[in-house]
Amino acid sequence: MSMPAPQTTTAVIDVRDLRKWYPLRQGFLASLLNLNRRYLKAVDGVSFALREGEVLGLAGESGCGKSTTGMTVLQLHPASGGVVSFDGRDLVSVSGGAEMRTFRRKAQIVFQNPYESLNPRFTIEQSVAEPIVIHFPSNAVERRRRVVRALEMAGLVPAENFLQRYPHQLSGGQLQRVAIARAISVEPKFLVADEPVSMLDVSIRAGILNLLRHFATELRMAILYISHDLSTMRHICSDVAIMYLGRIVEKGPAADVLDNPQHPYAQALMAAAPVMGARKRDRVELKGALPNAMNVPQGCRFHPRCPQRMAVCETDDPALRPTTAGRIVACHLYQ
Ligand SMILES: Nc1ncnc2c1ncn2[C@@H]1O[C@H](COP(=O)(O)OP(=O)(O)OP(=O)(O)O)[C@@H](O)[C@H]1O
Ligand code: SF4
Ligand SMILES: [Mg+2]
Repeated sequence: MSMPAPQTTTAVIDVRDLRKWYPLRQGFLASLLNLNRRYLKAVDGVSFALREGEVLGLAGESGCGKSTTGMTVLQLHPASGGVVSFDGRDLVSVSGGAEMRTFRRKAQIVFQNPYESLNPRFTIEQSVAEPIVIHFPSNAVERRRRVVRALEMAGLVPAENFLQRYPHQLSGGQLQRVAIARAISVEPKFLVADEPVSMLDVSIRAGILNLLRHFATELRMAILYISHDLSTMRHICSDVAIMYLGRIVEKGPAADVLDNPQHPYAQALMAAAPVMGARKRDRVELKGALPNAMNVPQGCRFHPRCPQRMAVCETDDPALRPTTAGRIVACHLYQ
């Protein structure tokens, strides 16, 4: 079941033509003369906007730039280009000062591995209190009240039972809930969830995903949900974007993209990992060299592997264009 349509029109987060290029090492002379500067184009022109309550699923094979997109949108890595706006304000123009602090509070991330994201020497209370201390300076009573509330919202009840425990005393699922409590303790409006359940037991994944869904529907949080697992996207996403070599190649309403992908790469991805309940599709085998962000092909970046490529695909880079309702696809078959 897809999520209800959001009620506001202003985007919480608006990302335009975001780029993150990592300079590659080069020889001394070339670097001295600034010759042939080469880059690994991890994110190479990504645009999307999320309004309150919207959940955008970001899918694509390993190395296509999903995590880099999340980190760069959050300004945890400096962007190489593009514009990120939060609540209508361009973040480049607020780099520093009170507005950037507000953004740092209102935009949070939950990582894949809760064992790494929590300090093993901190109690759960200390871990969850850390961002509260930074963003809501308060006395001990008020701080504890916020920690308890965040733990309860993350489904750890009674919260008092968890406060003085250490990470090694909790299960993986409980730890991920602590990481989520930490993120939501400062009342974010935008959350990046980067593979939040992929390290957890299958049996407890649904509980965590329901929690994220609840944050979107009830608290109107905007969420960027990064995952390899397309079957979970149907459950919590309003829209799904498919990424290939640093670009979004298809984006649209979750059920439409998952049931009826239009971009040949999206079709191949869906066929390789059939979504539960979706109609059966013929398997599309991907041939050709594996994608390499250090050497992005000319023309359509998917053309070396595309079963439907045409002559134009080798020379012209297709732009994202509207196809069916709410859908955009970057492919010459639809231009
Ligand atoms: N700090 C870095 N320096 C150089 N290259 C990097 C850096 N971080 C990521 N990359 C490269 O950028 C590309 C995108 O990586 P990223 O981690 O964003 O992919 P991903 O889609 O999240 O993959 P996965 O599904 O495996 O998590 C990859 O080619 C990766 O090797
Ligand atoms: S533009 Fe051409 S090569 Fe690229 S996905 Fe479409 S058909 Fe395939
Ligand atoms: Mg990643």
